[in-house]
Amino acid sequence: MTRADARNGRVAPAGRAERGAGAARRASGADRWIAPAKVGVFIAALYPLARLVFFGLTDRLGANPIEFITRSTGLWTLVFLCITLAVTPLRRMTGVNGLLRFRRMLGLYAFFYAALHFTTYIWFDKWFDLAEILKDIGKRPFITVGFAAFVLLIPLAATSPRAAARKLGRRWKTLHSAIYAIAALAILHFWWMKAGKHDLVLPKIYGAIVVALLGWRLLAWARAKFAARPRV
Ligand code: HEM
Repeated sequence: MTRADARNGRVAPAGRAERGAGAARRASGADRWIAPAKVGVFIAALYPLARLVFFGLTDRLGANPIEFITRSTGLWTLVFLCITLAVTPLRRMTGVNGLLRFRRMLGLYAFFYAALHFTTYIWFDKWFDLAEILKDIGKRPFITVGFAAFVLLIPLAATSPRAAARKLGRRWKTLHSAIYAIAALAILHFWWMKAGKHDLVLPKIYGAIVVALLGWRLLAWARAKFAARPRV
């Protein structure tokens, strides 16, 4: 794109612009840390699964292994949701733009642990017995809320590849803002479950984290809106 193009507001096609930016990054070498860091994050994010496998093999899943696995995978789904939501505020605060390159992987890990959580419940806990599941939902309605969060996560995971993002254009961003609703539903699911046990310490901590992360976005949005207003 020439300077005249830029002045006239002409923009290179997305693919070309991205390739250009990619080449510039490679040339500068400033982002050289990202590839090894990504491998590190990928391996570290497998820790919750490795821990469950290790506990399973060494007979440490407790008296109720299904409950242990359901709870562990549920909590890790929430942890990965929070980490994914923290990427943008961290990038803005630190100015390290490369952090954005971890967001997709972290979001996919949230989906991965949610899928394990769901599979453990529906398969190993309920053996696909619909009548049993409906009876349980009647007794513990918080399960429906978790289910809603999981269903909303599916299109986000399905459209996470770059090709899908390119194809969807601006609609991708709108679709992916569902992550805010998912985080809110996850907290409601957790809170409701623990309220029945009169143990709200953890839901309060995670609730505060999610409120802070969503509140930061709301403030950033309000500030941008205010700054864009024409001054009289
Ligand atoms: C984004 C989706 C979801 C998130 C973030 C999530 C998160 C959680 C969390 C944090 C817990 C409590 C863990 C603990 O006690 O420390 C939990 C428990 C539970 N979740 Fe989910 N969940 C999700 C989806 C689902 C789905 C789809 C189902 C089933 C249809 C489900 C069923 C359950 C059940 C049955 C428990 C309680 C297990 C027990 O009583 O021991 N969740 N979930």
